[in-house]
Amino acid sequence: MSRLVIVSNRVGPLKDTGKAGGLAVALVDVLRETGGLWFGWSGEVTEAGTFSELKRERRGNVELATIDVSPADNDEFYAGYANRTLWPMLHYRLDVAEFSPLFEAGYHRVNERFAARLRPLVGESDRIWVHDYHFLPLGARLRELGVSGPIGFFLHIPWPPTEILSALPRHRDLVRAMLAYDLIGLQTERDRRHFVDYLREEAGGHELPDGRWEAWGHTVRVEAFPIGIDTEGYRGFVATPEARREIQRLDRHLRGRAQIVGVDRIDYSKGIPHRFRAFERLLEDQPELRGRVSLLQISPPSRGEVFAYAEIRRELEHLAGSVNGRYADIDWTPIRFMTRGFPRRALAGIYARSRVGLVTSLRDGMNLVAKEYVAAQEPEDPGVLVLSRFAGAAEAMSEAMIVNPYAADETAAALQAALQMPLDERRARHGALYARLVQADARWWANAFLDRLAA
Ligand code: F6P
Repeated sequence: MSRLVIVSNRVGPLKDTGKAGGLAVALVDVLRETGGLWFGWSGEVTEAGTFSELKRERRGNVELATIDVSPADNDEFYAGYANRTLWPMLHYRLDVAEFSPLFEAGYHRVNERFAARLRPLVGESDRIWVHDYHFLPLGARLRELGVSGPIGFFLHIPWPPTEILSALPRHRDLVRAMLAYDLIGLQTERDRRHFVDYLREEAGGHELPDGRWEAWGHTVRVEAFPIGIDTEGYRGFVATPEARREIQRLDRHLRGRAQIVGVDRIDYSKGIPHRFRAFERLLEDQPELRGRVSLLQISPPSRGEVFAYAEIRRELEHLAGSVNGRYADIDWTPIRFMTRGFPRRALAGIYARSRVGLVTSLRDGMNLVAKEYVAAQEPEDPGVLVLSRFAGAAEAMSEAMIVNPYAADETAAALQAALQMPLDERRARHGALYARLVQADARWWANAFLDRLAA
């Protein structure tokens, strides 16, 4: 078996510190299984930047190799092109995207340096799996450095329609570079369709009889591999002391009141203001629910150096304050808005004690919170997932209550229905969702991708 080399911007942690995002958590699960090398950013910004020494660390069968970035790299690559240009573009937010030649140059410079630092670590028979929008051109740079083995790429966030992507300056160069990969994996069928539409419309591409795509003189396979979670492992978290502690704390605090839970990094793609407004609408329309239901929103801050993120945080603080000011009572706070993260095991307990899991993304690659919420439910008395149709997760979670987060009244009505849903219907919906999560779990996702890459 050839060694697996994973490349992603965030690497680790291999322990549950509560700081890892969806991608890092999924990759930890994969690597524990297969073993291999995980290469990426150390999380450190230092003057010496990417010229600094490679940091290596071995944990069992997994080796981590990371490098620092310089302050300019961080500003132009991470906070710049990756998160002020590509992130909004790929989330259909042309209004937020910034186009700066400085960011673009920094992005390509860092991709080149990462490729150069990775190259000596790669053996002849290794398989390389590159992750996410930080590294769209990394495969092409590795090919230029003589890597000839299989290189696959998986995009964890959405791929927008060509009409949107074509507004990105030099979009063709970026997509042409992606064709150096042998396999491009996307989260959903919709994303895959958008990608091959792009190849057809902008690159004169066409599909070959074996299902691969030919464009600009390259041949590439493009498929959807919806990412899963370690479903049974996550279910097991609910029995851990960390989860039990949260369950007991909530039991003491809620005293029979229902809780709706939302968990997201503070990000404008998550529709958190829309969620607060839908909850406000629920309280407005259903006075009997006042004092009987609350919304717990857990939102660790993210990318605070980017203006749009600082701005959305202020907006949320304002909104939560205004809903609470209007509806709170001496012994009841409608919205508990917490800007800190929780370890994953503790979160599992919080999900388990929440009658409704609420995901209102305006656009989301997959949304693993939706899956973790379902996995944490007690099958005998499960809560209900209310899920935005614009999260990739909605494609295979039709037994959730699917909502349009732009329609506050629709989301409010779904919340009310979820809070009142009879037990047998809750069980039926949960049973169907859970069974699919067990089948299409993180291991299935990784194996499906890696089998395809090997083929
Ligand atoms: O795919 C998007 C993603 O990488 C998530 O997996 C993760 O939760 C988030 O972005 C992390 O963002 P950042 O590395 O910028 O904190």
